[in-house]
Amino acid sequence: MKKVIIGMMAAILFSAVIIVCSLNHKEEIVPEYVLTYAENQSENYPTTLGAYRFAELVKERTEGKVVIQVKHSGELGTQDEVIQQLQFGGIDLARVSISSISDELPRMNVLQLPFLYEDEEQMWNVLESTLGQTFLNSLERIGLVGLSWYEAGIRSFYSSEEPIETLDDLQGKIIRVQDSSMMKDWVEMLGATPVVVPYTDLYTAFEMKEIDVAENNWASYHSEKHYEVAKYYTVDEHTRVPELQLMSRKSWDKIPVVYRHIIMQCAKESAEYERELWVDYTAKAKEEAIAAGCKVTVWSEEELQKCKEMLLPLYEKYCSNYMYIIEEIQEMKDEIH
Ligand code: GCU
Repeated sequence: MKKVIIGMMAAILFSAVIIVCSLNHKEEIVPEYVLTYAENQSENYPTTLGAYRFAELVKERTEGKVVIQVKHSGELGTQDEVIQQLQFGGIDLARVSISSISDELPRMNVLQLPFLYEDEEQMWNVLESTLGQTFLNSLERIGLVGLSWYEAGIRSFYSSEEPIETLDDLQGKIIRVQDSSMMKDWVEMLGATPVVVPYTDLYTAFEMKEIDVAENNWASYHSEKHYEVAKYYTVDEHTRVPELQLMSRKSWDKIPVVYRHIIMQCAKESAEYERELWVDYTAKAKEEAIAAGCKVTVWSEEELQKCKEMLLPLYEKYCSNYMYIIEEIQEMKDEIH
């Protein structure tokens, strides 16, 4: 009798194992497309979290047929390298700053002109309008598909040796810039020397004293721990440089239309999420940087006015073909789109 019971229990266990295995087998979905996504920010930065959300949404809505693998912290290369790889089809997706494509697509300079927007709201009115969509569409010319915009706050200078209290303090300084002709020119107009350094090398560049000054938003300053090597942050808020989620045109062409729609829609939804995260992340970044010893200087209205005037020639020099767009942007101050 004992043997019969043991035999029956073994049979039940065996069948249960078979059922579980076959259920698991049925649930195993083989992706049709595995796409790589390049991000140069760290793992918990809002843009990276936005990319993860994007990947999750795409996986869910394609029922696991399209999988996006997010590689953060610049693992896939500098932004310039990533853009080349997107054009070539070696990387499928990325989030980049528009500064890194403005030399190849000069109209992008318009969106990163100094002191262009009155506030964040105006910038988003522009980006979400048909004008913003025209900018996204223009990326086709350089082998890219513009999926969505991302928030990147407002940029200010920060320095290692001494605070930048006035424009005079910038004279003769070596200032790190992104690889953009307009940005280099801009630094020269302020009497300093521009040096291009990839974002992920900036901490070391400060440590090695290769640069005196850099400029970025609070979130990046904090996330890359730049306050440890450049403790003076100057609130001059000279520019907003929006970010882009991009897809390689080559990869896009290989994907069925139904998945393209999903990718586009999910990118836009992830952008809303990234914008929500941005506000709290920035406030916390500022607070923590100050608690860690960062010293803040705020420029006077007079200094800001002087700076605006010095940089005004950039509008004509880099955007003379797009003055009508600039006027349109300037008229969009309080509109809601
Ligand atoms: C911002 C942006 C980065 C970019 C960086 C830079 O932090 O999010 O992607 O690389 O600016 O100044 O290089």
